[in-house]
Amino acid sequence: MSMNLVTLLYLVASVFFIQALKGLSHPTTSLRGNLFGMVGMAIAIVTTGALIVEISGGKAQGMVYVLGALVVGGAAGTLMARRVEMTKMPELVAFMHSMIGLAAVFIAVAAVAEPYAFNIVAKGQPIPAGNRLELFLGAAIGAITFSGSVIAFGKLSGKYKFRLFQGAPVSFPGQHKLNLVLGLATVALGITFMLTGSWTAFFAMLALSFVMGVLIIIPIGGADMPVVVSMLNSYSGWAAAGIGFSLNNSMLIIAGSLVGSSGAILSYIMCKAMNRSFFNVIGGGFGGETATAASGAKEQRPVKSGSADDAAFILGNAETVIIVPGYGLAVARAQHSVKELAQKLTDKGITVKYAIHPVAGRMPGHMNVLLAEAEVPYDQVFEMEDINAEFGQADVAIILGANDVVNPAAHVKGSAIYGMPILEAYKAKTVIVNKRSMAAGYAGLDNELFYMDKTMMVFGDAKKIIEDMGKAIE
Ligand code: TAP
Repeated sequence: MSMNLVTLLYLVASVFFIQALKGLSHPTTSLRGNLFGMVGMAIAIVTTGALIVEISGGKAQGMVYVLGALVVGGAAGTLMARRVEMTKMPELVAFMHSMIGLAAVFIAVAAVAEPYAFNIVAKGQPIPAGNRLELFLGAAIGAITFSGSVIAFGKLSGKYKFRLFQGAPVSFPGQHKLNLVLGLATVALGITFMLTGSWTAFFAMLALSFVMGVLIIIPIGGADMPVVVSMLNSYSGWAAAGIGFSLNNSMLIIAGSLVGSSGAILSYIMCKAMNRSFFNVIGGGFGGETATAASGAKEQRPVKSGSADDAAFILGNAETVIIVPGYGLAVARAQHSVKELAQKLTDKGITVKYAIHPVAGRMPGHMNVLLAEAEVPYDQVFEMEDINAEFGQADVAIILGANDVVNPAAHVKGSAIYGMPILEAYKAKTVIVNKRSMAAGYAGLDNELFYMDKTMMVFGDAKKIIEDMGKAIE
């Protein structure tokens, strides 16, 4: 197989990857996007396989290892993806990123050990100094991504007793200075490796990078992990691109850059929708405050509360209803129940719309995915900018397991979420809120909306309450 054909096929695969990203940007085209991604990956794998056979002089021995790894990795990935609950998706993604980081490190180690075998363009030549720089960058970022993602995985899962896997931030005096010293030492060792090709410098640089990955992530609160996972996603892409440059592999460069830039853009969008700066998240602490605020003593204020039957009566008499889904709806796995409830209302001639906040839930597009799983018609689902103007005319806004995304504190100067765009559910004529208690949401803040005269709280698990409302409407 000529190098020109390889490059052409890699280019075709890249076009499929770009189409995949484009498709994934909207629920209606996401299935197609996934298919494009799968086809692109299949082309990339088959082409690389043919290249391996070619490089090894027609012997297919190397391919046996590759196929073995593909079967084991593919089977494990399929099993995990089928079993994972939607709310556990960020931790699965963190695990996947740790694997990408580790893969980048392994490729770099192999390239350092066998420099002659790895120069695809000029076979038999050692890897030039310039490419060793990219190899160092790819390996260092890969190592940081690996250890950082392992910590993020532990924090997100909340299952492990190990101190560093706890949601609360871990900090100690001089942490930032230590990070700076380690960062500078890593760069110095990387430059030494670039100039001399020294193994010692390379492995010392790798060891420091693994430690840095841990140190960068431990001071960040567990609740901020989704943004961190998206950031690590970006890192894993840059690691792959770095390795791609040193190996002269255009596929790795393009795919790595796509992952690197889309991860960075996603982190930015998430921070913007939460009205926080990226450095504020990385600086840490927010998640820790959340845990304290949520568990701390709360001011007791009277609220109006009602039963599922009361809520059903109000809904049944409305003309327009806007449903605001939130993290609690995902926790209760009530997406199918809410669709049935909406259908019953629609059958009675009531207009039903869903309002989606960009950071409702715990991962980008969480609510879109949740509603799509229940096959809620797309024409009933509206993004925040499109629906906010309609709350003022809505008879009822029913908030199901959402809290921060409808919290009017976002309009109050000095509040932790000041400036965060919210769904303006408080403007509806009547507001029904379903949650289990008066506990705070992710940001750890009290919600003034719950105490308004027009608001009725309906306490209980979202699935049970929604099903009871459905029965009452019938
Ligand atoms: P939250 O503010 O976290 O509120 C969710 C509410 O659901 C809680 O107040 C909880 O109250 C309730 N709940 C939990 N389990 C429930 C159940 N089984 N049945 C009924 N209610 C239940 O959620 P939100 O409004 O969706 O806002 C998302 C937050 O996450 C935002 O602050 C956002 O910035 C943050 N965040 C989002 C992302 C992305 S990308 N989506 C990433 C990082 C951070 P009870 O305990 O009283 O039931």
